[in-house]
Amino acid sequence: MPAIVLVGAQWGDEGKGKATDLMGEDVDYVVKFNGGNNAGHTVVIEAEDGSREKYALHLLPSGILTPSVTPIIGNGVVVDLEVLFEELDGLNARGVDTSKLLVSANAHVIAPYNRTLDKVTERFLGARKIGTTGRGIGPTYADKMNRVGIRIQDIFDEGILRQKVDAALALKNQVLVKIYNTRAAEADRVVEELLSYADRLRPMVADTALVLEKALNEGQNVLLEAGQATLLDVDHGTYPFVTSSSATAGGACTGSGIPPTRVSRVIAILKAYTTRVGEGPFPTELDDDNGEFLRKTGAEYGTTTGRPRRCGWLDVVIGRYATRINGVTDFVITKLDVLTGLPKVPICVAYDVDGVRHDEMPVGQSDFHHATPIYEELDGWWEDISGCRTFEDLPANAQAYVLRVEELIGARVSAIGVGPGRHEIIERHALLD
Ligand code: GDP
Ligand code: IMO
Ligand code: MG
Repeated sequence: MPAIVLVGAQWGDEGKGKATDLMGEDVDYVVKFNGGNNAGHTVVIEAEDGSREKYALHLLPSGILTPSVTPIIGNGVVVDLEVLFEELDGLNARGVDTSKLLVSANAHVIAPYNRTLDKVTERFLGARKIGTTGRGIGPTYADKMNRVGIRIQDIFDEGILRQKVDAALALKNQVLVKIYNTRAAEADRVVEELLSYADRLRPMVADTALVLEKALNEGQNVLLEAGQATLLDVDHGTYPFVTSSSATAGGACTGSGIPPTRVSRVIAILKAYTTRVGEGPFPTELDDDNGEFLRKTGAEYGTTTGRPRRCGWLDVVIGRYATRINGVTDFVITKLDVLTGLPKVPICVAYDVDGVRHDEMPVGQSDFHHATPIYEELDGWWEDISGCRTFEDLPANAQAYVLRVEELIGARVSAIGVGPGRHEIIERHALLD
């Protein structure tokens, strides 16, 4: 069976966790291939008595909530070991079996000094800050590229670990003390902290690329789940207001060790409107009552940092861009229910940049900063759609909205989210063959 990639189409928080959870029972492996605990995925599971259980996942793949799934943290991920065990303990305390989790020996570790550096760098940037989650993501990927990173496998070789921490701190302590005027990190304490996780970590560590190769050869289903999203991708996003990893479909291969020839489908999650956390350009952002309506109705507050999310109308220039960059075969539109009650639902179909119409993302970042949305307005609907389970159940105007979006983004809409719950979804086309 080929592998399936799942990515975010916008600036994150599209509902990737819910979509992964939905597919959970039909897949055998769920692999997180990029990012770390900057991600925040909320999954809401309804019990038989109608009560709802909410799970917030950061570092673990969303597939961990499905007992039949083997969850994998791939080589492209950066792992904060303290967070890993806290998250596992939290799930275990709620009765979730996490014993199948595998972690790539090649994944990088977020050392404590990189958490410090993330925060002090942001403070130093002042008004030019990125608005990071402060989890040490950027500095850890920078170390990886600079070849001074610490990998999971290093935790099991004290001599090597000490050498690597010393090598990293030779420069970093100069930066911490002389530039940021903060305390130097003590190599001994860092090594001690990292070694303290070794015994618990050891049974989880594997050559996960090999495990996945075997699984694919045996006909198993593998889902590669992105953290973050297309416009937060370090290459294809709104640089420098991005994260530091490859969150698009290409990153699924480098971040897991699965070759491109084995990927058969790319599913992108598209929120029915747009949100963004942190700094950076956002053409359809609303600073008015409509923005407040989307934030309140959609509960748009960050799962990781609790920050209110910036909100705006759907932007299909971004949707088309996501289709092109990821090779999207299927879209899942989420949170359509949030648009219920609006008299008109605008869709941004192009940008005006200094009097020139742009149907594609502008080449230059400055143009994107100055882009004014060109809207097409569709009629809204008033009916509660959370109980709809087929496309035909939706009010005519909601159907028309989905069909117009489908036409504009250039790939089929295979599922539509109508509420946060696991079953509050309309499936139009099977997401798995
Ligand atoms: P992720 O980071 O892409 O996994 O998304 P988040 O979990 O950060 O944010 C999505 C939020 O929307 C979560 O609180 C979900 O429970 C919620 N959600 C997902 N799909 C739907 C939907 O179709 N309707 C509504 N109302 N909420 C949804
Ligand atoms: P999920 O997986 C939304 C944003 C941060 C900041 C920028 C860089 O839940 O969709 P970082 O800490 O990664 O260096 O921050 O990226 N960001 C996210 N925004 N959803 C996420 O993840 C995000 N992960 C990072 O707010 O603007
Ligand atoms: Mg999120």
